Amino acid sequence: MKKKLVALTGAGVSAESGIKTFRDSGGLWEEYDVMDVASIEGWRRNPQLVQQFYNVRRRELATVQPNKAHEILASLEKFFDVEIITQNVDNLHERAGSTNIVHLHGELTKARSSVNPNIVGEIGYRAIEHGEKAADGSILRPHIVWFGEAVPMIETAAKKMQQSDIVVIIGTSLNVYPAAGLVDYAPPGVPVYLIDPNEVNYHGRKINFIRKKASEGMEILFQTLVEQKK
Ligand code: OAD
Repeated sequence: MKKKLVALTGAGVSAESGIKTFRDSGGLWEEYDVMDVASIEGWRRNPQLVQQFYNVRRRELATVQPNKAHEILASLEKFFDVEIITQNVDNLHERAGSTNIVHLHGELTKARSSVNPNIVGEIGYRAIEHGEKAADGSILRPHIVWFGEAVPMIETAAKKMQQSDIVVIIGTSLNVYPAAGLVDYAPPGVPVYLIDPNEVNYHGRKINFIRKKASEGMEILFQTLVEQKK
């Protein structure tokens, strides 16, 4: 039986594809106030601004490609039972060929009812027009989990962590909870690799820190987990 490799990914895994991270210098939260564009209060205050923010993100997503890090992670499915838990709302893991992906914070290419979170549909890369309605007649909103909202997939993600044999954390500052607490669910003794070009504020268990960008870090990890075992 293949070992279960659980990867927790954040904005940094998509940085080399040309998608801005949030908290780095030049990141999105320098340009926008997070509470204006990514919170439920922001949506209630100014839904047009929020729609516009995600319409731009969606349009950009159509123009970028998965990078080497997404591709190596997808190729690891030959050797491991890979489960990806991503905080990203892009679809680059899917487009690289990964098959088991939990989107903790939603997906850009979907829209949903603003009243019933279970009424969700594909919209691809198109804009949501102002005043557009969902199937239940409510305002159509981005399928994004905003600050101030529950994270419906967190229990599914925690269960996957509990079953992990290997954990890999890629490109997340581990600032946002509950996602940042997921690593603590991994059984004791499970090796944890962390790939990030910058120091990450993590004070849990012992980690194997690969201080590289995602693509180079994933090449090193592939060597460590696969090549050296041959
Ligand atoms: P952050 O922007 O907080 O962190 C990005 C991480 O990626 C940092 O640790 C960087 O050092 C690292 N990084 C930058 N370039 C990289 C590269 N080329 N390769 C690898 N790592 C790189 O993004 P997240 O931790 O994903 O939520 O943010 C978590 C959540 O906060 C997001 O899902 C979003 C945001 O607010 C919502 O909007 C609900």
